[in-house]
Amino acid sequence: MPPPLEVVVLAAGKGTRMKSQRPKVLHELAGKAMLHHVLDKATALGAVNTHVVVGHQADTVREQTPHRANWVLQTEQLGTGHALQQVVPHLRDDSIVLTLYGDVPLVSEDTLSRCVAAAQSGRVALVTADFADPAALGRIIRNKDGQITAIVEYKDASKTQRAITEINSGILAVPGALLKTLLARLTNDNAQGEYYLTDVVELAVADGVAVDGVIAAKPEEVTGVNDRVQLAELERIFQRDQVEALQRAGVTIADPGRVDIRGSLTAASDVFIDVNVVFEGDVVLEAGARVGPHCFIRNAHIGANATVESHTSVDGAVLQSEALAGPFARLRPGTELGPGVKIGNFVETKKAVLGAGSKASHLTYLGDVTVGKNCNIGAGTVTCNYDGINKHRTEIGDDVFVGTNSTLVAPLSLGNGSFVAAGSTITLNLNDSDLGVGRGKQRNIKGWTRPDKRSDAK
Ligand code: UD1
Ligand code: MG
Repeated sequence: MPPPLEVVVLAAGKGTRMKSQRPKVLHELAGKAMLHHVLDKATALGAVNTHVVVGHQADTVREQTPHRANWVLQTEQLGTGHALQQVVPHLRDDSIVLTLYGDVPLVSEDTLSRCVAAAQSGRVALVTADFADPAALGRIIRNKDGQITAIVEYKDASKTQRAITEINSGILAVPGALLKTLLARLTNDNAQGEYYLTDVVELAVADGVAVDGVIAAKPEEVTGVNDRVQLAELERIFQRDQVEALQRAGVTIADPGRVDIRGSLTAASDVFIDVNVVFEGDVVLEAGARVGPHCFIRNAHIGANATVESHTSVDGAVLQSEALAGPFARLRPGTELGPGVKIGNFVETKKAVLGAGSKASHLTYLGDVTVGKNCNIGAGTVTCNYDGINKHRTEIGDDVFVGTNSTLVAPLSLGNGSFVAAGSTITLNLNDSDLGVGRGKQRNIKGWTRPDKRSDAK
């Protein structure tokens, strides 16, 4: 049995460079707070305890985080080592303690697992990466044999040390009991007057404890976010990775740089996604489904060979196979389009269930309605579902024809094969095969003369 895993997430910092009222770690990447990405990783790794160190706007961070965690308050931010010292009373001795940063959201489970595994043999393990431009990150110092001997913070580094490109990601795993003894010995005798967590490396080496460097699978995954420029860069990296996984699974993406997946997208082979599509929540696209340009798709299931044409919003809707929606359609929650259903331009649906082969091709509102099979809903049809107080349903049978510009006043039922004359206001139920005509009778005036242009008119 490997030792239990405890995760500590550092999230007390101010995030000054975000220039935001919002705590930095709650800024979103792909529609999810950075901190929540990190906490999801702790869960995936099977952590028995997750401790989150909070300081700046601690209450907001806590309130807006649904994850189960032990919240540890660091009232003054005296450094990363000081942050960890606050957690010591909560840590077990027999665990491996993995420290993550709330503003390093993309670190992979693979890299973290390797880091934890390295610490299981009683060592200090830290994730490093090689950066072409290591800027102000901590530098990894290795001896002639390649063994890590220290981490030097940029501000404390000599010119030669600053030339080193191997950096400290800040992520490290240490056996619980060992970590506690090392943390107790930290001092703030350095350029920033802070308690550096990184000093545990030098202390461990002095005690003869081996320090393992675990190189991150990709350098980008350990990049931290300090400002909105970096956040946007990581967003693109994250999106490109998701797109690449879809492409490898047989999905055609018109332009990998112009699609956004903010949630989970499951797509079968031969799905086609055009440019500027935004996916949110849980979306499933079955084989051969097509999504046109400029669509918004949230919590939706799009069946095999179904099509969403351009500029369409699909939210909380199901499209069965071969169904078609758009261009310029809006499918709202509770919409279910049966096989081969067609919803055309400027049609809005809500809690609308349409049976196989039915069509509403233009300019229509279908709300709180059940439509049977093979119906035709003419342009300009409106279900009047709301009387100002309550919502009412409209039940439409199979093979019903609703003429253009009809007003269907709910509660209402239209029987199988019934027919509504164009321009009708229908308030009475129709039985099977009835024709409903609900409009003023036309009068024709014979020999009517058009108004003349008046001579005094300006
Ligand atoms: C730290 C590392 C540096 C590493 C870099 C990677 C130290 C001393 N240095 O530097 O080697 O290359 O991260 O990004 O550890 N935090 C707290 N409480 C504190 C201070 C920080 O919770 O008192 C949190 C911050 O919110 C942040 C993380 O710890 O999430 C890192 O702190 P930061 O100040 O950014 O450390 P760096 O100076 O960047
Ligand atoms: Mg930093």
